[in-house]
Amino acid sequence: MPFLRNAWYAAGWRQEIDDKPVARRILDEPIVIYKGADGAPIALADRCAHRFAPLSLGKIDGDSITCPYHGLTFGRDGRCIRNPHGKGQITSSMSVPAFPTRVQNGMIWIWMGDKEKATQCAPLAYDFLDDEGFTIIHGYLHVQAHYELVTDNLLDLSHAEYLHPFIAPPGSYANVQYKAVEKDGRVTAYHSMPNAENTPLFKLLMDESVRRIDGRAHMHWEAPANMMLDTGAIPVDPPDAASASTPQTHLLTPETENSTHYFWSFARDRMRNDASVSEMLREGITNAFVNEDEPMVRAIHERMGGKALFDLSPALLPMDEAAVRARRVLARRIAEEQSAGA
Ligand code: FES
Ligand SMILES: [Fe+2]
Repeated sequence: MPFLRNAWYAAGWRQEIDDKPVARRILDEPIVIYKGADGAPIALADRCAHRFAPLSLGKIDGDSITCPYHGLTFGRDGRCIRNPHGKGQITSSMSVPAFPTRVQNGMIWIWMGDKEKATQCAPLAYDFLDDEGFTIIHGYLHVQAHYELVTDNLLDLSHAEYLHPFIAPPGSYANVQYKAVEKDGRVTAYHSMPNAENTPLFKLLMDESVRRIDGRAHMHWEAPANMMLDTGAIPVDPPDAASASTPQTHLLTPETENSTHYFWSFARDRMRNDASVSEMLREGITNAFVNEDEPMVRAIHERMGGKALFDLSPALLPMDEAAVRARRVLARRIAEEQSAGA
């Protein structure tokens, strides 16, 4: 299936762009991202117009970048602004595609489709990432699998007790109340855990007297593959302890048909100034994903042998509803875009 092009994709955390260009393949196109004179990110095709050298190996000067091979210089709109050869003539063939970018909530977003349409919509807002009431950690993971398989994994929390027994003890999913809701192109997988035993995560964040909680994990998906996970715990026993909230983003951007950039963030409103808690959370998230989710999703991708999910007639279980709905919404959006383009 082609990629959805008219959409904002997460391209990198703002801190990643410093004084060096960053090379990142997005929707199977090589892109160079660098910081312009005003600090805003500039994104160009990472392939010089002359002999296709990677501009990401070149030098930045203000808004421009100079090719490391024969020295053509390109401006922020991708047009050549300096040719050190011959009479220095500049022709229209000496330009590279430029891509609109935005910075929002600490994330650099890139638009890979029709530039006119980029001005008609904004990247998704995740304002809790700018809320001073939260401490935020964030990171990047690389997944060797199709991005929709990573979406499937994130929308289905029932795998946790099998794949992550240290996070979700065996039998814990039996107490989860699950509901999938699709509204205005947005799909939410609601997981509610009423009057449940407190979990290792919330034991870390809440008062140690809290034994039982009303837990929630509501995963909100929007096309193409951006998710916000609203997780939190309200104490039931004792009822007067403080609650805890840990909203997260899980933003997926296809690198190729076979690999995915995964930008995650995790916010917390408890134990906010404890650096060791940040470190434990970072290690826990990275470990679960790198050692448990990623190998599983990669193995599934390999077993599917490049075939589309529904062509393989998968057996579907109740907790697949959100992922199936998300796949259908995305397929519809891509089909609409393709037919408009045609
Ligand atoms: S390849 Fe870039 S100037 Fe020749
Ligand atoms: Fe997982």
